[in-house]
Amino acid sequence: MDQHIPVMSLELLSNLNIKKNGIYIDCTFGRGGHSKKILESDPTIKLIALDRDSNVNQYSNELKSEFGDRFEFKNLLFSDIQKAYEGLVDGIIYDIGVSSMQIDNQERGFSFGKSGPLSMEMGLNNISAEDIINDTTQEKLADLIYKYSDEKKSRIIAKKIVEYRQKQRITDTKQLADIIIGAVGKYSDLINPATRTFQAIRIAVNDELNELEKSLKKAIFMLKPEGRVGVITFHSIEDRIAKSIFNFYSGKKNIVFDRNYDNISQEIKNNDFFIKTITKKPLICSKIEKEKNLRARSAKLRVAERLK
Ligand SMILES: C[S@@+](CC[C@H](N)C(=O)[O-])C[C@H]1O[C@@H](n2cnc3c(N)ncnc32)[C@H](O)[C@@H]1O
Repeated sequence: MDQHIPVMSLELLSNLNIKKNGIYIDCTFGRGGHSKKILESDPTIKLIALDRDSNVNQYSNELKSEFGDRFEFKNLLFSDIQKAYEGLVDGIIYDIGVSSMQIDNQERGFSFGKSGPLSMEMGLNNISAEDIINDTTQEKLADLIYKYSDEKKSRIIAKKIVEYRQKQRITDTKQLADIIIGAVGKYSDLINPATRTFQAIRIAVNDELNELEKSLKKAIFMLKPEGRVGVITFHSIEDRIAKSIFNFYSGKKNIVFDRNYDNISQEIKNNDFFIKTITKKPLICSKIEKEKNLRARSAKLRVAERLK
């Protein structure tokens, strides 16, 4: 494996409280950076790694040959985390989002700079970006772009997409990027005008927010007493989901949910609490890491611990 440095790995490891003979789950294997660090930290532990993207096999095979039975990979959605391991575990981690391996491959359709099929699928998907862009009503498309990216010009972007697709199906990333740039013109900042819309479509294609919410709710109940869950996010909505779920299960009732948490309220009885938060405020990366790794700049880490 070439030198791949996972985001906030020092902070994650030191807050996981690794236990002798512990069982750990890495829900977002990617190139296996965090998995490797955890396995190296103690020769007695085992780790099960999940990823929805079967293309990570090249990296999971490397860890398999290095760590043998201590490492296992499963091609699963992390919302199906209960299928990862029968029984309780000592720690569960998430490093949310899309990997550089996925973004850099133009055939995967995540990148607006290059021409590629309008896919944006991380793996095990039901729909593609092409389906959403061509088959969603103008109003829903505008709402989706606004909700998942705060794009202020979502209405005009959705209008231009619908006008275009009435003439011709939109199938290519470059085609979509050009429609967006045509709709909003050049932004004054340095961000490409297509950035936000691409992010919103990607979140929708991969159902990313529901995935996180469903998985975290299950993860809390898969932990042994004193077991810890750590979540690294790069997006304010994802951080709010982690924060809200941690707060809720640690018994703080006076929080305002910005998403619909009706299901949680039904599952939980008054005054039940199951975890305590370890990070009162989210941790951010060090100055040194910030300088080395652009992506780490927006990273936030939250950790919670299962109570006895
Ligand atoms: C940012 S990368 C993780 C990088 C990894 N920590 C490393 O050190 O290489 C996120 C990975 O999580 C995977 N992923 C995202 N959402 C997922 C989900 N709902 N279920 C399973 N895997 C998911 C992506 O396919 C991607 O490979």
